[in-house]
Amino acid sequence: MRIVLVGPPGAGKGTQAAYLAENLSIPHISTGDLFRANISQGTPLGLQAKEFMDSGELVPDEVTIGMAKDRLEQPDAASGSLLDGFPRNLSQAKALDEILEEKGIALDAVLDLEVPEEEVVKRIAGRRTCRNNSAHTFHVEYKPAKAEGVCDECGGELYQREDDSEETVRKRLEVYHEQTEPIIDYYKSQGLVVTISALGKVVEVTQRAMEALRQKAA
Ligand code: AP5
Repeated sequence: MRIVLVGPPGAGKGTQAAYLAENLSIPHISTGDLFRANISQGTPLGLQAKEFMDSGELVPDEVTIGMAKDRLEQPDAASGSLLDGFPRNLSQAKALDEILEEKGIALDAVLDLEVPEEEVVKRIAGRRTCRNNSAHTFHVEYKPAKAEGVCDECGGELYQREDDSEETVRKRLEVYHEQTEPIIDYYKSQGLVVTISALGKVVEVTQRAMEALRQKAA
């Protein structure tokens, strides 16, 4: 399956993507994680991305689309992928259509995670992320690490992402409403969107998502 996951910052895209990708045996491709890996390795791409991410703006399309295309061309993505955080505006959505068309393939579904803004704020305020791997995330209340400040999965140090400050989250939400939400209508016109509530326990949301994807594929 080829799926795009969409939802506001803190909706639980990364959390759900890890479980869904495992259940569906497809790679989880997160442009945010790819940027953060580049930042921690100090690559030119990471340096370029950092200033945009820290201010809550989108990284320019020239950088993002090339990076996503390279990742989609890796062998593990040949038979499917779960895209988390890409596309994030209409021009990225159109670029993705072209990338897939070149390969003679198409998206199967766009899973839209709905969460009220007050819940998003709570989720982001309590999130702790692993310095070694930003796909390893915890929450001080909802998913505490076994030992405070230490990643359960790899022992890495947990920290609060620079872009998780209240001011930057406000900016990221604004960018989401202005630039990312329009892609939901774009994909609705192609009959691809399934919307689910992302409220409730993580496992309940995963079950809801799997059921919605099953119905979409039927
Ligand atoms: P990115 O890393 O993609 O961030 P985001 O979309 O803002 O999403 P988040 O990672 O903040 O949240 P999430 O929905 O994954 O939630 P999570 O599962 O962690 O992008 C960051 C930046 O990179 C962007 O601002 C931009 O600058 C740049 N960028 C990335 N892609 C780009 C693109 N395509 N174009 C241009 N720029 C791009 O969950 C949040 C917390 O809630 C966690 O603590 C978790 O434990 C907890 N939680 C999750 N589910 C539940 C639940 N059901 N109940 C209780 N708690 C829960």
